[in-house]
Amino acid sequence: MITKAPRGTRDLLPKEIVQWHYFEEKVREVCRLFGYQEIRTPIFEHTELFLRGVGEVTDIVSKEMYTFMDRGERSLTLRPEGTAAVARAYLENKMHGEAQPIKLYYVGPMFRYDRPQAGRYRQFHQFGVEVFGSQAAELDAEVITLSLFFFRALGLNDFTLHINSVGCPQCRQEYRRQLQAALQDKVSALCADCAERFAKNPLRILDCKQNKCRELTQDVPSMLDVLCGECAEHFAQLRQTLDELGENYVVNPRLVRGLDYYTKTAFEIISPALGAQSSICGGGRYDYLLNTIGGPQIPGIGFAVGIERVLLALEAAGVQLGEPDKPEVFVATAKVAPKEALKLTMDLRQAGLAAEQDFLNRSLKAQLKYADKKGIKLVVILGEEEMQKGQVTVREMQTGSQETVTINELATHLAALVRRKDK
Ligand code: HAM
Repeated sequence: MITKAPRGTRDLLPKEIVQWHYFEEKVREVCRLFGYQEIRTPIFEHTELFLRGVGEVTDIVSKEMYTFMDRGERSLTLRPEGTAAVARAYLENKMHGEAQPIKLYYVGPMFRYDRPQAGRYRQFHQFGVEVFGSQAAELDAEVITLSLFFFRALGLNDFTLHINSVGCPQCRQEYRRQLQAALQDKVSALCADCAERFAKNPLRILDCKQNKCRELTQDVPSMLDVLCGECAEHFAQLRQTLDELGENYVVNPRLVRGLDYYTKTAFEIISPALGAQSSICGGGRYDYLLNTIGGPQIPGIGFAVGIERVLLALEAAGVQLGEPDKPEVFVATAKVAPKEALKLTMDLRQAGLAAEQDFLNRSLKAQLKYADKKGIKLVVILGEEEMQKGQVTVREMQTGSQETVTINELATHLAALVRRKDK
């Protein structure tokens, strides 16, 4: 038991971490181009924030939160998502007093107690962005475009953008009424979850994956036909802007997201390379979230990308994200004390070379074999007599060629060889 990580969590081993570094570098690069700044919020928050922000009747809040009492009897929750936390930070740090809009991004772990499967974990990681302080439909287009730009920058080109408008509290009220009226006689035929959703959160029925529920909801009215004038205009503006930017999308009136804070724009990006968990990015506008958690009414919009899922999609597409770092130099010893070797290894590191040495008292032959196995291209051999003369041997592993170099010139000599090999 104690030698196994908790269900739904996993270790990121050195051979995978290189992909994560690459991913995070791309996040920084793309966010810089779009003018977004990084924010880091705590891993846990007051439970109340998610109850109010995400919504008590959502699956995330009612079934999936890791909630605990701390030693001071406060109810805390490991964040299941980033938006409510970033909204809280925006208010707490009085960012509404700064020049608007505020454009933020984050990368980090989220926690949901869901049934683990391929692409679904209990601890997973998101890259997300949140923008506060503008209602403009063009901003919705910028946020959506940022996610598309990011995927393409990673080398992922096979995905579909789905967009919808979930309206504002006023038109959604009317849509709820129409949806409930249309489903009234079918409630008993819906799956148990949807039967429960009927009264509290009927829009979520549209999102059910069960065939039975899909069939029963085939002919229900579309939210897009019920939008009020302002919401309809906003959606038209968004579509027009995406068209002008040359982005393809599918208008999907069944797209309702699993969090209660959305208003107007909702969107999702789907990767055909993944199975059931095919959503690699989800987001939308939330013009009342700040209000709901106790702040002024300031509009916002954002998205979050599931890092694990994107890495799976990249793997399926055969995209390789960088190579693990390798030491550049191995310091091998022949009858020279490891202490002396360490001094020389340290000098090489000071000179900016990634250097390693033997700590297992291996024979010279075994050390060379080790360097070869690790893919280290240059080996410095310290021999007792040479050292006394202030010299060492440098061996290029690929060709087997060796030359004698003075210790004084060693770092410069190796640096030149490393540069040559990089070319
Ligand atoms: P979400 O749709 O719940 O939205 O999650 C966003 C993305 O996180 C999903 O599309 C998926 O790629 C990934 N994801 C979610 N749950 C899991 C899981 N259990 N295992 C692996 N990956 C997962 C949000 O979280 C909103 N906060 C997004 C947002 C930001 N809306 C506005 N701003």
